[in-house]
Amino acid sequence: MANSTAQDQKVLVVDFGAQYGQLIARRVRDLGVYSEIVSCDASADEMKAANPSAIILSGGPASVYADDAPSVDPKVFELGVPVLGFCYGQQIMAVTLGGKVGHTDKGEYGHTDITRTGTSQLLDGTPDEQTVWMSHRDAVSEVPEGFVITSTTANCPVASMEDAERKFFATQFHPEVRHTQYGKRMLENFLFDICGLQATWKMDNIVEQKVAEIREKVGDKRVILGLSGGVDSSVVAALCARAIGKQLTCVFVNHGLLRKDEPEQVEEVFTKQFDVDFVHVHAEERYLKLLEGVTEPEQKRRIIGTQFWKEFFAVAQDLDGVEFLAQGTIYPDIIESGARKTGGKASTIKSHHNLIPFPEGVHFDLIEPLDHFFKDEVRALGTVLGLPDHIVYRQPFPGPGLAIRIIGAVDAEKTEMLKEADAIVREEIDAYNERLFEETGTRNSEHSAWQYFAVLPDVRSVGVMGDERTYQHPIIVRAVESQDAMTADWAKLPYEVLGKISTRIVGEVNGINRVAYDITSKPPATIEWE
Ligand code: XMP
Repeated sequence: MANSTAQDQKVLVVDFGAQYGQLIARRVRDLGVYSEIVSCDASADEMKAANPSAIILSGGPASVYADDAPSVDPKVFELGVPVLGFCYGQQIMAVTLGGKVGHTDKGEYGHTDITRTGTSQLLDGTPDEQTVWMSHRDAVSEVPEGFVITSTTANCPVASMEDAERKFFATQFHPEVRHTQYGKRMLENFLFDICGLQATWKMDNIVEQKVAEIREKVGDKRVILGLSGGVDSSVVAALCARAIGKQLTCVFVNHGLLRKDEPEQVEEVFTKQFDVDFVHVHAEERYLKLLEGVTEPEQKRRIIGTQFWKEFFAVAQDLDGVEFLAQGTIYPDIIESGARKTGGKASTIKSHHNLIPFPEGVHFDLIEPLDHFFKDEVRALGTVLGLPDHIVYRQPFPGPGLAIRIIGAVDAEKTEMLKEADAIVREEIDAYNERLFEETGTRNSEHSAWQYFAVLPDVRSVGVMGDERTYQHPIIVRAVESQDAMTADWAKLPYEVLGKISTRIVGEVNGINRVAYDITSKPPATIEWE
């Protein structure tokens, strides 16, 4: 096909409020096939319009017979597209096609052994006995006509079922969860053998496609972009730089609250490595003035956010011919902004464009080239585009920056102290993570710290240095293990790492005479102190 793209093959993941909804879409993409999440409220016609190559029905927390149980348009099974259902997805497939679902005596949660009961295209190449991940109380009690049972467990008569002729497959367990020993093999069987798809969704293929799309949309117009130093805006900038070069103006608003050396690194990358129009707005003094005496965390956030757009539009309004604003919106932002409060179903995609406070009379069309990419794909794109690791693998850092790590009022002296102490914390924990990587061969070792930084509280304590009494600030070291920041455990850093951080901070940073380690998890604490 002359104009075929990696998105021509598409798996639709129908979301029933699944705990693992995004995970299914990510697993499919990890195998090289593009996938999108749609709400279970979407009609079969709407799904057909998306031209799916396959449909996966996710799990979900409801019981199929509950009054407000989410269902799926029965015509989905008449589209002539292979369908695979997991957990609630299996149950909804069963009841929609004439089977039955009932309560089991005992639910099954966690690792469970299944026994295969015959040939199965979905389970092909996997052992007769294997461990899967279950999380259910209800289960299919009678399969619809045309289906055969392909595995069972001690408590669940239909652990999986299939109608190979119509290409309908389902499992009560979760193949997308890593604890399902052969889950990956089952997904591969479905995507490649059953649906005949090809693994074309690879980041190096996609760069050129995205570059072509940006060029076509922008033509000879200009694009403006607000660079924060974070991964998402940097990858959009690198992508637009590849597509349109100097037609892109990157505005970097320096609020003076980034970490040590970060502004210089951003400037270096986007002036030396990429050939774009780079504007460095030195707003440090203005931010300090606005934040003077402000102690309330939410007020700090408001001031910093509002001022960002003021600074940004002041530059934008002086540029001629700018028609587009590029943004680093990513797929989870879109899914989460569209998610319903009740049941958490990812509803039809809603744009959140109105979050940008355009001044009176100002308008730009938006370019959001990453709006269908997951975070790990954004990082992979960044690497393909040649961005340095310190940007691509940057740990999460809040937009309001160090202002919410200085407890109480922010001033220049405290900002400087915190920058120095924070640089030491990061240097020592980076080195520790690197040692773990050498020992374990993985960057996601369960003991590696995920986010780590210094906090400057608004208290002083007495110390003694040399023969002199000191009365100075402490530094709190915060380091957490987490996957997604929703929950976090404090990192069990070795004493010698903590000891070295303490000795270095007190020895090297003027004004600090004590170091403490925060040993609270989230919940009940949060990761940040403000
Ligand atoms: P908490 O403190 O709520 O943080 O446990 C969860 C994650 O969000 C980051 N964070 C922010 N990011 N603007 C941001 O862009 C903010 O105002 C903000 N507050 C917290 C935090 O660093 C952690 O990764």
